[in-house]
Amino acid sequence: MSIIERAAGKLGNPQQPEASAIKSATRPPADTEDGRLIEAAIKKAEASFNRAPASVSPPPQEPAFYRDDDGPATIIGSQHGSVNLARLKLAGALTPDAGRSKIAEEYRLIKRPLLMNAFGHGNNAPIPNGNLIMVTSSVPGEGKSFTAINLAISMATELESTVLLVDADVAKSSVIRYLGLEADRGLLDVLRDPNVQLADVLIKTDIAKLTVLPSGRGFAHATELLASNAMKAFMEDISTRYHDRIIIFDSPPLLATSEASVLASYMGQVVFVVEAETTPQEAVKDALAHLENCEFVGVVLNKAPSRTVGGDYYGYGYGYGGYGEYGKQPQ
Ligand SMILES: Nc1ncnc2c1ncn2[C@@H]1O[C@H](COP(=O)(O)OP(=O)(O)O)[C@@H](O)[C@H]1O
Ligand SMILES: [Mg+2]
Repeated sequence: MSIIERAAGKLGNPQQPEASAIKSATRPPADTEDGRLIEAAIKKAEASFNRAPASVSPPPQEPAFYRDDDGPATIIGSQHGSVNLARLKLAGALTPDAGRSKIAEEYRLIKRPLLMNAFGHGNNAPIPNGNLIMVTSSVPGEGKSFTAINLAISMATELESTVLLVDADVAKSSVIRYLGLEADRGLLDVLRDPNVQLADVLIKTDIAKLTVLPSGRGFAHATELLASNAMKAFMEDISTRYHDRIIIFDSPPLLATSEASVLASYMGQVVFVVEAETTPQEAVKDALAHLENCEFVGVVLNKAPSRTVGGDYYGYGYGYGGYGEYGKQPQ
């Protein structure tokens, strides 16, 4: 079992009372390399959560057309789409009617620290850009899209937040296909063509509070646009206009393209997906090194086989803390 598997199962968000019990009961000895890395990650996470609440600036005025869920009168050019729930269920994904199923419970655990960071909790103020959440991984196929979609549905359907799900894995986009929606334009078109407005390409779905921004028309080297000035301006724009909404970015894998770490630099929080028992530990360490400037990185251990009465079952573990430390050598 790799350090990340152990850490993902054992480290919790310091904001959650049960987390400290988990980490102290199971932390590896402090005089081992794993122990030092985990110790450093915990210290960093605790320091960041213990800081004094920052002041929050008042929301800026927003042009009406940019708001996609304020009622029909304010929507210009917004499209509507019906999510194919049967397809989602077939893929084993979360659907709004999941109730208290295991998958719904698992995503409740995963989203809780993300929402607390985004909106603040108790004496803890929201973290800067905490509503901008990147879902990434080391390599393709680990479950980024699966995780991003499940998180978005979980957050949107429990009436906690309005969610915009952005398909930013422009070279290997799959959000639209997973959801059974149709779209010809999206993020890439907004970035390339000043005549295309965000509101023109957003898809308001029939899952309450869930809006999707498709990746748009692909082309060779499309991923390079993620590191462009146009993307920087786009991120600044939506982080201001959508400061009160969760924006989840299904993103390229960190080891496949350098643009992924540029994208990460705009985010308040990163959800790092690790495919259990498959992703090599070295790949995980290398990928996390690309995130060392990101303060809030949570790990989702995906496709972790767990035995149930009914047989093998794919599940998820999660950990939360200063995982940027993993890319560094122990002090
Ligand atoms: N926890 C899971 N349980 C079942 N299937 C999963 C799970 N996570 C991912 N998959 C499946 O694994 C494949 C790859 O997942 P995907 O989210 O598309 O990967 P990525 O976006 O990282 O390339 C898909 O067929 C997806 O449905
Ligand atoms: Mg994907």
